[in-house]
Amino acid sequence: MAKKRIGILTSGGDAPGMNAAIRAVFRRVKMVSPAHEIVLFHEGLNGLAGRLQVNFDRNIDRSRVRDIIHRGGTFIGTGRLVELADPPERLTAAEREAWLRKQREITDVAVVNLRQLGLDAIVVIGGDGSFKGCARIAQAYEERFGSPLRVVGLPATIDNDIWGTEFSVGFDTALNNTVDALRKLRDTIDSHRRCAILEVMGNTSGWIALCAGIAGGAATIMLPEVPDSYDPEQVLERIRRAAHMDYRYIIVVMAEGVRKVSGRPHLGEEMCRLIEDDPEVREALGRPLETRLNTIGYLARGGHPSAFDNLLACRLGVAAADQALLPGDGRPVMVGLVSNVIVVHPLEAVTSQSPRLIREDDELLRVASSLLVQQDQPF
Ligand code: F6P
Repeated sequence: MAKKRIGILTSGGDAPGMNAAIRAVFRRVKMVSPAHEIVLFHEGLNGLAGRLQVNFDRNIDRSRVRDIIHRGGTFIGTGRLVELADPPERLTAAEREAWLRKQREITDVAVVNLRQLGLDAIVVIGGDGSFKGCARIAQAYEERFGSPLRVVGLPATIDNDIWGTEFSVGFDTALNNTVDALRKLRDTIDSHRRCAILEVMGNTSGWIALCAGIAGGAATIMLPEVPDSYDPEQVLERIRRAAHMDYRYIIVVMAEGVRKVSGRPHLGEEMCRLIEDDPEVREALGRPLETRLNTIGYLARGGHPSAFDNLLACRLGVAAADQALLPGDGRPVMVGLVSNVIVVHPLEAVTSQSPRLIREDDELLRVASSLLVQQDQPF
């Protein structure tokens, strides 16, 4: 097999397990042939676009990926280049023009860098925004040089919202971190007989909120995809019901994205006031229900990766390396996991169907409606 040169970058929100994925791609490529070379780009697409003082490490050896498998975050750094996305609709014609100019500047620099480095393929470890950005650069590369550059996506985001894979690297760790936070909250609100709202990560999709809420025994969950779930009056109704059922303490899990979709940037604080001031809750308990808002934020995204995430990262890393080494037609692809089997999708199918949101008929919603407090709960 001819010697190949493969680039690796991590992009978008960091996710626990990204380091294990980098290591797996490196090891697999070198295992196939030690003559192959790996280039590591720093701070995501910024490294590719030459925006840093040191943009990449050429031809790394195994010492560069030593002692990283257990570490959270990404040791090569990550970043976002928003201008690689399509211009947002809200922009004026002039702003749109400026955005597209910037986009061309970025892709111009990136394709020249890629050419000079002599890369055959890039493995991009991240979410759908990063995949789209890399695919745009690959398209510009082909237009400029007439030969394709293989892009291989490896799904890694705590949000778990990428179409074509049941799990993305980082989700399991973030879920465990969030459930751990819920258990700690439970100890203290149980002691004081209070209510706690935990705002969790998830901007457009509520997967962390839904899974952590079910696994952590929440009374109710507020999801961006389900308007009834974050309607203040309906949330209050469920709290009233829990108060009537003599709950000792009440946990509400709220995905951060509901603040945006509801148009209520302070929805968490509003809910605290509504619950504390509600006459029916007061009457049911014989006292106001003290309610505290907590935000887990980046604490869910950090920390050492779970065994599941590291194993997933290793499996997807090996698959991504194999895809990067394929002669193929150069079309961009993503590796994923479906029914515990590694699959390969055209990247276009992934980006056009992502983010993967919670659907009305999702089985997890049925589980939630069976286990969480319901307004018309029969028992
Ligand atoms: O990694 C995905 C995610 O964590 C989203 O849940 C969140 O909205 C977003 O990234 C925030 O990331 P940052 O603050 O790094 O831009």
